[in-house]
Amino acid sequence: MQFKTLPHPTPTPAKTRDAALADPGFGKLFSDHMVVIDYLEGKGWHNATVGPREAISLDPAASVLHYAQEIFEGMKAYKQEDGSIALFRPEENARRFNDSADRMAMPRIPEELFLEAVRQQVAADSDWFPTVDGGSLYLRPFMFASEAFLGVRPAKEYKFIVIASPAGNYFKSGVPAVKIWVAQDYVRAAKGGTGAAKTGGNYAASLVPQAEAIAKGCDQVVFLDAVERKWIEELGGMNLFFVMEDGSVITPPLTGTILPGITRNSLIQLMREEGLTVREELYSIDQWKADAESGKLLETMACGTAAVVTPVGTVASHDGEFTIGSGGPGQLTSKLRKRLVGIQRGQEADTHGWVMKL
Ligand code: PLP
Ligand code: COI
Repeated sequence: MQFKTLPHPTPTPAKTRDAALADPGFGKLFSDHMVVIDYLEGKGWHNATVGPREAISLDPAASVLHYAQEIFEGMKAYKQEDGSIALFRPEENARRFNDSADRMAMPRIPEELFLEAVRQQVAADSDWFPTVDGGSLYLRPFMFASEAFLGVRPAKEYKFIVIASPAGNYFKSGVPAVKIWVAQDYVRAAKGGTGAAKTGGNYAASLVPQAEAIAKGCDQVVFLDAVERKWIEELGGMNLFFVMEDGSVITPPLTGTILPGITRNSLIQLMREEGLTVREELYSIDQWKADAESGKLLETMACGTAAVVTPVGTVASHDGEFTIGSGGPGQLTSKLRKRLVGIQRGQEADTHGWVMKL
């Protein structure tokens, strides 16, 4: 599909942009451009544009505003050692986007069109890479139902949009490890629900427990299974790994209630190549505490595109707190973070074909 380029009448002045790029934080700043592609039942995907990032006009009856037909992805573009720009496993994001679309009764977007949209976005905003150490250009492709009607049914009209946000650390810098709050009173997803789809409603459901976590002095919330309320699932925006003393690593299985993380999948492969035994199996909140206290559990790591690989130091709940290892970053967590970041930034050999140079 041909992308039409729309002129930008008022790009951000270079001085303002460069000051922002030196200290971007996460998700607060946005680049100058966006990609938009329309969908209409019977016509398919059409009208692809790359133009100024600007407000979109939406009918007040647009069904996304009422029934939340919306999905998104989170991915990053990295400046490589040699100055080129690369994406990390973007075809996995395209695949997961379509899995989310299937679950939310939305149209699939051809993988190549998704990838081309992302490439166009990065090319238009190539001067929006943070200059801060560890920075990247966070990309947010999303799709929503734009058709105006009030009956409850899948819409016939959608918009696919990509925006970009220069990103530094997700967690406030200087924190050696994050503190996690256990959601004992709330559930994120149940079997048969939308937990495995990257759709706004899952995040809406996480906001009250996340606010509770913040109020309790924690950084993130961990969700438990909806039935027995004991099996660890994932954090509000990250998957989890538990590193045991015997060299094995446990991670919750993909049972349909958690997001199948691309970082999760990559870390499993990297660990198995290192000779570690990774077990995708249920692990309970009580076992987590018991193993942390007996020293059987050495480390817990949280992982995701935004958070990369982040150590979990402390776990708090209505029943009290426990510390993992020394409460700071563990050895394997630090090693894996370095290895993954090295691959993403072209400092280490990409033996898996995970890096797509643009
Ligand atoms: N779990 C949830 C709920 C998320 O929002 C994310 C972030 O995208 C992840 C896990 C990690 O997924 P990924 O590694 O693909 O970014
Ligand atoms: C990501 O890691 O890309 C996400 O979408 C998670 C969110 C917490 C920012």
